[in-house]
Amino acid sequence: MKILIADYIYTQKGFISKQAVAFTETVKEINTLEILKEKYPNAELIQTEPNSILYPGFINTHVHLEFSANKTSLKYGSFMSWLDTVIEHRDDLMGACDNTLMQKACKEMLSSGITTFGAISSFGNELEVCEETPQRVVFFNELIGSNAMYADMLYGDFMERVKASQNCTKASRVTPAIAIHSPYSVHPIILQKAVNVAKQEKLPLCAHFLESQAEREWLSSGTGDFEAFFKKYFNTSTPVTNIEEFMHAFDSYPTHFTHCVQATPKELDYLAKKGHSIAHCPRSNRYLGCGRLQIEALKLPFTVATDGLSSNDSLSIFDELRATLMLHNDIPIQALATSLLKSVTSDAAKVLNLNCGEVAVGKLADFAVITLPETPKREEEIALWSILHTKEVSHLFIEGEKYV
Ligand code: BEZ
Ligand code: FE2
Repeated sequence: MKILIADYIYTQKGFISKQAVAFTETVKEINTLEILKEKYPNAELIQTEPNSILYPGFINTHVHLEFSANKTSLKYGSFMSWLDTVIEHRDDLMGACDNTLMQKACKEMLSSGITTFGAISSFGNELEVCEETPQRVVFFNELIGSNAMYADMLYGDFMERVKASQNCTKASRVTPAIAIHSPYSVHPIILQKAVNVAKQEKLPLCAHFLESQAEREWLSSGTGDFEAFFKKYFNTSTPVTNIEEFMHAFDSYPTHFTHCVQATPKELDYLAKKGHSIAHCPRSNRYLGCGRLQIEALKLPFTVATDGLSSNDSLSIFDELRATLMLHNDIPIQALATSLLKSVTSDAAKVLNLNCGEVAVGKLADFAVITLPETPKREEEIALWSILHTKEVSHLFIEGEKYV
């Protein structure tokens, strides 16, 4: 048993003070230090620095580790120019992305307090690193392929990867999962097969959806920047699906849709009605010129996620949260800070169906302790100060074990 003492604990009821947490792999009790010491006299006491706040470990629901080598290769500013450079530099970037680089990316996330991440994997190359990293990893095996001629072969390869991730040892903290690349890049027949597998095996499911204006135009009318792209790389001139058909493919299984920046209010309402959620990647959207997701109007749960280093400059969840505050400059800042912390803790855990994301009895003891540079003058501003002042966490626990 361990007992952790911090000035504040972030809970569903707000920040509480003068309390400590007793835990093993899971949280056993939240009470005053005196009572906990009396009840668990042999527990190890962990006294954090003054002005520390105990948060549940943060959750980054959407990251692509395999693109961690990108610094200046990919062109930012517009989605299509970016996609062209992904095709141009893909082999170089993947070749340069060895296990050491991916371990560095996991470490960067860990330092910023991320105890769980959703790894989107095209080839399964990240599996070894994800098995070895201390973090909880929801391993999203990605299905891609719009060409019917190759669809069966690509589906077979995808299922092999799904099976490999299902064979990870329990100790690795890997949860197998399924990702659909996007409406424009996945043939509807294999898409439905993959959704059925997710449903049957109860695997978390995600899909990129309506990231760019070009995607919307291609899916709605077969025109725009994607027309030349598909002519050039696939010698095709019509999209394999449309927005409505794609959305309906997920009707019977809650899915985590990434981006949705170009979705209409009606489409977003439909996703909400079907119990789906959104991964919001503000820096990625800004860097690729995709626009701003109107989070203030959402009626469905959303998470804030970093996406990969293919469309970002860091994998720090606090860098992402600071950018989110800036992108949504019309939303009152204190309320936004509060809702963003929820989006990367309890809301994200619910989306990924994990028993973490809250400091509460019975939850996994995944914690991130942050330390403010001075005593917060007003309690109602702690959420904002936490986001603005945190570069690295001061302590981090996963399943009760200390990693920072
Ligand atoms: C495809 O396989 O159809 C595809 C892959 C990447 C981008 C666009 C389409
Ligand atoms: Fe992504």
